[in-house]
This record gives sequence, structure tokens and C-alpha cells, in this order.
Amino acid sequence: MRVATEARRPDFTSRLVGKALAVKPLWALAKGQARRMMIQRAERLGIPWRETVAELSQQDWQPLWQSIQRVDLAYPANYTASFHGYDAGHLCWEAAYEFEVASNAVHSSLYPEAGPASDQALREGYHAVLQSQLPQPPARILDLHATVGLSSFALEQAFPAASVTGLDFSPHYLSLAAYNAARRGSKVTRWIHALPEATGLPDRSVDLVSAFLLFHEMPQGTTRRIFREVRRLLEPGGSFALMDMNPASGVYQTMPAFVMTLLKSTEPFMDAYFALDLEEELRQAGFDEIVSSVCSSRHRAVIARVAG
Ligand SMILES: C[S@@+](CC[C@H](N)C(=O)[O-])C[C@H]1O[C@@H](n2cnc3c(N)ncnc32)[C@H](O)[C@@H]1O
Repeated sequence: MRVATEARRPDFTSRLVGKALAVKPLWALAKGQARRMMIQRAERLGIPWRETVAELSQQDWQPLWQSIQRVDLAYPANYTASFHGYDAGHLCWEAAYEFEVASNAVHSSLYPEAGPASDQALREGYHAVLQSQLPQPPARILDLHATVGLSSFALEQAFPAASVTGLDFSPHYLSLAAYNAARRGSKVTRWIHALPEATGLPDRSVDLVSAFLLFHEMPQGTTRRIFREVRRLLEPGGSFALMDMNPASGVYQTMPAFVMTLLKSTEPFMDAYFALDLEEELRQAGFDEIVSSVCSSRHRAVIARVAG
């Protein structure tokens, strides 16, 4: 799948925006302004941003943090990059406290009829694709970028008979995931702090690996390593499913170049992701029967099988 955005030459405005964002004080100013606008917009939509963050930041996270964090985990540089306007990227409490409200806000325009419930609708759309395309309901599911648990809880709902394990490289997110699980009465209790390319799980121990909005955040070499790791984990007949940005979508093809530049300033590996032929990479990692489906105006699901 070729990508128009990759071939598009940056116009004058986007070059200007790119140059301005490279100047630290200007970047801090733009980031602060974008953040204020996002919070205001979220609250206008009824998403209780500041209230949620205030409540979460008052909790004592130490007991969960200590039970989850693997102190010996070494991070390759891509995991410590700045994401979503947080200098420490995914490895900070602020990103964890804001994760759910930000996801609701970011996705709120996906389905006009759903509004702030669009994040949930996106997850349901993805699971409808899984339910219609998987050969049988999976018994053991690994959620590869569980973050604060939203994707794991959604998988649990879609496949109630399965055992779901959530894995993430951020112990901040996983502390929130365990907290959210207890509050929601979820059965998901296994949260693994590890890199997605080095899970530490045994060969052929999973029937479905799901990665919801993971790969647009990964450099190409890491994506290839994750694909090989997933192939190792899956039972024969098992499936790997991912849901992510769709580079071929009209939204990205027609997005003004300067807006794209702004977006990329908070998503450091988006270009690398857009330039990668996922289907071909999956084939090279040993997957068969690769099927892509449209999930929203800007997302796609890709399901890859391991021959049974
Ligand atoms: C980190 S991943 C999400 C993976 C996870 N499996 C899930 O279920 O949501 C990328 C997503 O994080 C969300 N997100 C959370 N906080 C954000 C922020 N401050 N700015 C932009 N996106 C944010 C967006 O929905 C984005 O697409």
C-alpha cells in the first residue's frame, strides 16, 4: 500500500510550521496552546478531563506500581521519545492520568452520531471485524499495548470466555490498568510490564494477539521485531490482529500539509509507519492469509493468520 503523504512535498506553510516547532520555546508555546484547546473541547463535549485527572492524581499508586514495575527493563530509545506532547512520552504519570479522557477527545469526531462515545464505537467496530473473520473465538488473548486497560477490557467483552493478558512497556499505564480493572469488576488480572518485541512469554502460548493503535508509534525495525515475536507466541491456527491508522484513507491523503506537520510533531514514528508495507512485512515474518478491512474514516484492521 503506497502512501500519498510520504510522496507529498512539504509546502511553504508546513516547512514554516516544521521550522517553528524545531525551536524549543515556540514548540512549548504551540504545545501549551494545543493542550488548552484539547481540554476545552473535551469538556465542551462532556468529557470530564480536569476532574478525572484531579481524582487520579490523588491516589496512592505505589503499591500497584511496585507490584507491576520490572526494574530491570531497559528501554531502547524509541520508547523514551516524546509522544502526544508529553516530554517523557508514555513513561510518565500525566500521560497515564490523561489517557482515557484524551482517547475519548481524540476520537470524538470519528463517528458524528456517537460523538464522545466514538472511541468505544471504534473498538466495537474492530471487534466486529474480529468476530466475523476469526475462524473460532480465541481462548487466550494477548493485548500488546494495553496502556490503561481500555483495549483489554474491550477484548474481554467481545470474547467473554477468553483469558485476556495485557502487556505494556509503561508501568505508569499498567498501574492505571490494574486500578481500572478493579473498579470495573474486570476479570483481567494479568498485566505484564515488558517490551512488545520481548514479551518473555512461551512459544505457542496464545491464540490471538491484538495490537490496538500500537504500530504508528513504532520505528520500522521495532515493528519487524514485534511481528517475529508475535509469530513465535502464536499457536498454529492462531491470529494476529492489529487496528491502526490507515495511510490510504482520504483523511490523511487530503490533510493540509501543515496540519500533518503538527500531527507528526506529536507522533515521531508516523512517517516510518506510513511508509511500511504492513502486509508484506507480515508475510516475511511468516504469516498467511492477511486481510485488511476499513474500521473508520481513518483506521484499518489487519488480520494475519498462522497456518494451522
Ligand atoms: C498509546 S495508543 C493507544 C493504545 C491502547 N491499546 C488503546 O486501547 O487505546 C495511541 C492512542 O492514544 C490515545 N491518546 C492518549 N492520550 C493522548 C494524547 N494526550 N494525545 C493524543 N492521543 C492520545 C489516542 O487515542 C491515540 O490514538
